[in-house]
Amino acid sequence: MNKKIAVIKGDGIGPEIVSEAVKVLDKAAEKYAHTFEYTQLLMGGCSIDVNGVPLTDETIAACKASDAVLMGSIGGDTTTSPWYKLPANLRPEAGLLKIRKELGLFANLRPCLLYPQLSGACPLKEEISSNGFDMLIMRELTGGLYFGERRTEEVDGVMTAVDTLSYNENEIRRIAIKAFEVAMKRSKKVTSVDKANVLDSSRLWRKVVTEVAADYPEVTLEHMLVDNTAMQLVKNPAQFDVMVTENMFGDILSDEASMITGSIGMLPSASMNETKFGLYEPSGGSAPDIAGQNKANPIATILSAAMMLRYSFDMTDEADAVDAAVKQTLNDGFRTGDIMSDGCKMVSCSEMGDLICERI
Ligand code: IPM
Ligand code: MG
Repeated sequence: MNKKIAVIKGDGIGPEIVSEAVKVLDKAAEKYAHTFEYTQLLMGGCSIDVNGVPLTDETIAACKASDAVLMGSIGGDTTTSPWYKLPANLRPEAGLLKIRKELGLFANLRPCLLYPQLSGACPLKEEISSNGFDMLIMRELTGGLYFGERRTEEVDGVMTAVDTLSYNENEIRRIAIKAFEVAMKRSKKVTSVDKANVLDSSRLWRKVVTEVAADYPEVTLEHMLVDNTAMQLVKNPAQFDVMVTENMFGDILSDEASMITGSIGMLPSASMNETKFGLYEPSGGSAPDIAGQNKANPIATILSAAMMLRYSFDMTDEADAVDAAVKQTLNDGFRTGDIMSDGCKMVSCSEMGDLICERI
């Protein structure tokens, strides 16, 4: 097959980790006789430096003309980087939010699993981590607090800021359907996370998710309040299979879930629209403190590329081969600094990419 991949390396460690993922994609292409054509695009701080804005119409058009997008990370140090002296709508993150909206990427899949090889890096007590866990957070990505009306103004002489959390039933229904569809291919359990004891948007969320559940009698649905979910994630993460939740709750809970896997450097993500089109990126940030040092963990980006093979290109064998190569590399004792433990061999970002390629 011939596929067109838009590549947004971005800022910080983005270029290093994406280069390793491209190396892995090329190895898979060679082995399984595919051709991947890459188009390099700018977004985030690097786009601000060149174009004055974090995301241009040309970048959006080039993404739309591709079969999928592979992304690294965007943004810099928020206290020292000049990008953060700009108005909010011109900062690197504004580019990321705009591309999600423009491409209609409403479903953000963040699989969190504890590799047995990394259980030593899990900060939970052994009695909890020894049960392992394998969950998928399905975060709504183009609605809620991130995209509601907002303003800052003086009201009766007092500075006042307003953000709005709004969802309509259609937005809730389409993400719920995605969650149940994925659950059917996993352990058939959906936990819908909300704050229905306080918020109207959550009460509608709960009602619509319950309606959708009626079409999936094999899937067990449970509702959980977001504060309790934060607690359950560290108390008994093995109870979760698919967790579906609104944008902001998903942002927070997915960082928490990533930490109990040992490192955010392990977590891939896929952001999809209604079709097979998707944007694939690691869940972690641009880590400006270690950028350019060949130290970053490229595994999250490599696993994101594997999700691209699986979800956008229907290349199941190829995706399985990449996932297996990552596991084998960990089994063989190779680690980047963030997941290093006694008795293992510490390798650089590019060495990790090479080791994974050798095992495909
Ligand atoms: C994420 C990030 C982004 C978000 C930031 C960089 C805007 O934290 O993808 O989780 O909040 O969605
Ligand atoms: Mg986040």
